[in-house]
Amino acid sequence: MEIITDTLKLRARLQRESRIAFVPTMGGLHEGHLSLVERAQKEADCVVVSIFVNRLQFAPTEDFSQYPRTLEDDCNLLKKKGVSVVFAPDDTEIYPVPQDFLIEPPSFANTLEGEFRPGFFRGVMTVVFKLFNIVQPQVAVFGKKDYQQMQLVHEMVRQMNLPLKIIACETTRAPDGLALSSRNRYLSSEERVEAARLYRVLSEIKSVVEAGNGEFQQLCKKACETLTYYQWEVDYIGLHQRDTLAPAEVGDLDLVILAAARLGVTRLIDSLEVSVKH
Ligand code: PAF
Repeated sequence: MEIITDTLKLRARLQRESRIAFVPTMGGLHEGHLSLVERAQKEADCVVVSIFVNRLQFAPTEDFSQYPRTLEDDCNLLKKKGVSVVFAPDDTEIYPVPQDFLIEPPSFANTLEGEFRPGFFRGVMTVVFKLFNIVQPQVAVFGKKDYQQMQLVHEMVRQMNLPLKIIACETTRAPDGLALSSRNRYLSSEERVEAARLYRVLSEIKSVVEAGNGEFQQLCKKACETLTYYQWEVDYIGLHQRDTLAPAEVGDLDLVILAAARLGVTRLIDSLEVSVKH
């Protein structure tokens, strides 16, 4: 496995590859990332993983400086997994000049995560666009936990005619259901136990909606109340159409529950697809 920090060296190394599958990450790697790598390996012999904590997607009040930076451990995991190339640029490699040329996402980026993290998706889309240009993959793999991000990347690829295919992978969960996330390491041991409640309340909504309950707002309100009772601060829990992320209406079949809530200092997000039958 090669670890490359320089864009020109990466381009030179990748020139001999006819098919590249790409997994962009911010490091702090866990089993969830490794499942994206496994999916990428089914798509191409050459898998490139980027590790770059993108300051452009953090608000000044957020955890940019505390975000886990575990490059050595990350590279050991990726080496064991048989990854071909790790691209681990520093800040000045990606942003040699102030990045005032930005990718402006469509309006659905201003809802949900975008409402609570203004500018977040502008930062994500800008770095993903740059990484796609640098790596020039045929395929890129994203996780469904960050559902809105995954859908926005799809839309950017479609509207900007980017020549690659996006693959969405299922969320990897701990045995108690908690979605794996680099931020889970901020949880205290008591919070870690409590954190699994998020998945349980989403699963409860999923099962009653799939059984025919169309009281979407009521169900989500009840889930919010449950979490609040257990000391969570809920940003949102809602049922949405999978492709547009518009609020779900009775009669829609392919839905997704999207949620974000804070437990102590840790903000967790999760998503769960819901399939309603005719
Ligand atoms: O999901 C992430 O880890 C990040 O948002 C991404 C896609 C690597 C861009 O920085």
